[in-house]
Amino acid sequence: MTVDEDQTARPAAASPELEGRLGFGAVFTRHVVAARYADGGWSGATLQPFEAISLSPASMVLHYGQAIFEGLKAFRAADGSALIFRAADCARRFRRSAARMGMPELPEDVFVEAVRAVVAEDVDQVPSAPGCSLYVRPVMFAAEPSLAVRASTEYVFLVVASPVDSFFAAGRTMIDVFAMRELIRAARGGTGDVKCAGNYAAAMVAKSAAVAQGYDEVLWLDAVEHRYVEEFGAMNCFAVTGRPDDGTATLVTPPLAGTILPGHTRATVLTLAARRGIPVVERPLALDELTDPDGSVTEVFAAGTAAGIAPVRTVGGSEGVLRKLGDEPGPVTAALAADYAAVVRGAAPAEDGWLIR
Ligand code: COI
Repeated sequence: MTVDEDQTARPAAASPELEGRLGFGAVFTRHVVAARYADGGWSGATLQPFEAISLSPASMVLHYGQAIFEGLKAFRAADGSALIFRAADCARRFRRSAARMGMPELPEDVFVEAVRAVVAEDVDQVPSAPGCSLYVRPVMFAAEPSLAVRASTEYVFLVVASPVDSFFAAGRTMIDVFAMRELIRAARGGTGDVKCAGNYAAAMVAKSAAVAQGYDEVLWLDAVEHRYVEEFGAMNCFAVTGRPDDGTATLVTPPLAGTILPGHTRATVLTLAARRGIPVVERPLALDELTDPDGSVTEVFAAGTAAGIAPVRTVGGSEGVLRKLGDEPGPVTAALAADYAAVVRGAAPAEDGWLIR
């Protein structure tokens, strides 16, 4: 299946640079790619104008929530071209998410070509300013009009794109995080390691409460002991133990044991740390380690496609501030963030398959 172009409508859009602060996911480009699944197969994916879609009020996604999505970014390279980061990895994870949610798997080449088609068509909307990119959001949802409690037999696949800058409110780059001990995000055997909409829906109440208390993000803990760090609401979690100046710095992140989203930025950071010769350890990371000012943890950061690499300034909880880590990114966080920014724009070597045009 290839992406057919529907050339009918091309409303003009101002360059995102002219729009002022972009924020995250607030403005969209002119086109989407859409495909439908029915009768056991996918129809051709078509490039279409970005406009409202029509859905039956009985569409199963509205009732039972079968919906998955991905997030990836296109960056403006120094030569002016647009580079898409880790599209094939997203296509693979999308297939895995679909399988877990009882949805049809979309061929990986269709996913990648759909992303490419949107980026190519709206390439003028890929921002070039530092910290800016075109966020691409593929999504698939159950579209069969039915209240039967079973997997839908019809689905819609869409790819939308949004020029973005900072993920966090008011362009914040250092973040304050709230360790959630009452609610849980995911348990073994659940859906914590797939990118389904329900994971985010169930987390909204915690995010709202954290934001209401002045925090930027929720730090989720394990479902059994409420003691070990799992991930942030929309990013994976990293800690640095020790210091680079005396050669003791080590990067620590929780292992992918079924409840944590296997983030592509997470995987990228692990590779970038290894390139710098920073030892990497995937092991359970206790909240107490993060919050102990006399302990070995010197830096904490979040890593995700939408947020990039976001250094943590404060860790708090229901009793108030648990640890202030500092107002500036630590040296390891800063170095990895710089490496990441260079790699995604083609200014430093990428691994095979990371970047496509
Ligand atoms: C991403 O980082 O791309 C995500 O999908 C997380 C969030 C924006 C929902």
